[in-house]
Amino acid sequence: MAAIRNFKPAETDAAAAAQSVDLAKRHLVQPWPYAGTVGAEARSLIEGGEGIYITDGDGKKLIDGPAGMWCVNVGHRREELARVMYDQAMQLSYNTPWYTMNSPSAELARRIAGHAPGDLSHIFFTTGGSSAVETALRFMQFYNNVRGRSEKKLIISRGGAYHGSTYLSASLNGRARDRDWMDGAHDLVVKLSSPDPFRRPAGMSVGAFSDMLVAEFRDTVNRIGADRIGAFVGEPVQASGGVIVPPPNYLGRIREICRDNEILYVSDEVVTAFGRLGHVFASEEVFGIDPDMITFAKGLTSGYFPLGGVIISERLLEELRRSNHPDALFGHGLTYTSHPVGCAVALKNLDLLEDGILDHAREVGPYFQERMKSLEELEIVGEVRGAGLMACVECVADRESNDPLKLDKDVGNRIDAHCHELGLLVRPLINMCVMSPPLVITREQVDDMVGILREGISRTMEDLRKEGVWQG
Ligand SMILES: Cc1ncc(COP(=O)(O)O)c(C=O)c1O
Repeated sequence: MAAIRNFKPAETDAAAAAQSVDLAKRHLVQPWPYAGTVGAEARSLIEGGEGIYITDGDGKKLIDGPAGMWCVNVGHRREELARVMYDQAMQLSYNTPWYTMNSPSAELARRIAGHAPGDLSHIFFTTGGSSAVETALRFMQFYNNVRGRSEKKLIISRGGAYHGSTYLSASLNGRARDRDWMDGAHDLVVKLSSPDPFRRPAGMSVGAFSDMLVAEFRDTVNRIGADRIGAFVGEPVQASGGVIVPPPNYLGRIREICRDNEILYVSDEVVTAFGRLGHVFASEEVFGIDPDMITFAKGLTSGYFPLGGVIISERLLEELRRSNHPDALFGHGLTYTSHPVGCAVALKNLDLLEDGILDHAREVGPYFQERMKSLEELEIVGEVRGAGLMACVECVADRESNDPLKLDKDVGNRIDAHCHELGLLVRPLINMCVMSPPLVITREQVDDMVGILREGISRTMEDLRKEGVWQG
């Protein structure tokens, strides 16, 4: 197994780290907790970061396999980003977007519009991805109300989707376990199948599977009526669902059905934008589609500041401006809309991406995919799939059935625990491990990362065999 390159002893204070763990257990509610441990839980303490590495509370240096939450695209501890935040806070730390505006947000909107496909020209900035999706959906509702189509509000989403944790955005989520104990605006949402070729019906070709998905959408529109459907929301690659890359041309065909039925196509690029697939936006560059709106967040600031947004088509705005209701108010805004510090850091982050990191991501992406794919040699691995610098290793009980449920549900956590020991943070997802490292990762570092992951999976296979949970 490869050792971690550039391993530097990290400075951590063991007593301070222990105190943080204790305080967290007593006072923090962590995201996505279980009832049995809510408010009484400590997670791996992370004390520092540099480049693709992070340091945990014990001073152990780890490769940041998921780049935080698919977001630390330019890597940790970029001094340029820290400085620009300091400078902007000293110049103007905040202004109310209700009656004033600032220059960084105007300039950032111009830069983002310059990368957007079709006539996507205007940006509404939010605080992250959920609020970006929420904004797009509330805009769709407003748009249809103003246009006198108050019945045209249903939202189409898909199994395997993740669109956020606010009430409406969460109602779109497609993973059953995310919703089992949660309420939602279910009457506003219609779900289609996940475009997951790995779980297509046995014996069906990928092409026939794509036809089936498209027919499902068409039938749904015919059954419900286009006059009741306001939007389709989809991630180009379903990220949290397990890096599900859709069949070729599937998204383009969905886009056409939307266009024919005046259903607004919202491309949720919260994960895929800002370099994850090698481009600022993946919708057109990778998948050949021109949506009506694109939502984005995460890589916009490489996670240095909570900022997101939605890009809206010029045509939609023009229709509103020309409507018979110039007095209709879009009653939507956030205290931190167009935050000057967030927009300043996003501008510098975009400079870094444009000045070589996007090129690097396009260059190293195929190598990353090839090395990750080699993990299919391991018996427990059913499939490794991905695109650009995101990939998922899916473990299965046996390759014949591809059934993840028979397998010990904690297999992702077990792999993560072994990898942590070995110097790699993994994002475990039930029977899957997701990897989406900072885009600045080198080929050598990819080798290190995949070497550790291979060892972590091998050790997990041994454990499962010994415990009689899996025979392999
Ligand atoms: C595709 C997608 N949309 C929306 C969100 C929600 O973003 P946030 O957590 O910033 O609210 C996420 C978060 O992972 C996501 O992956």
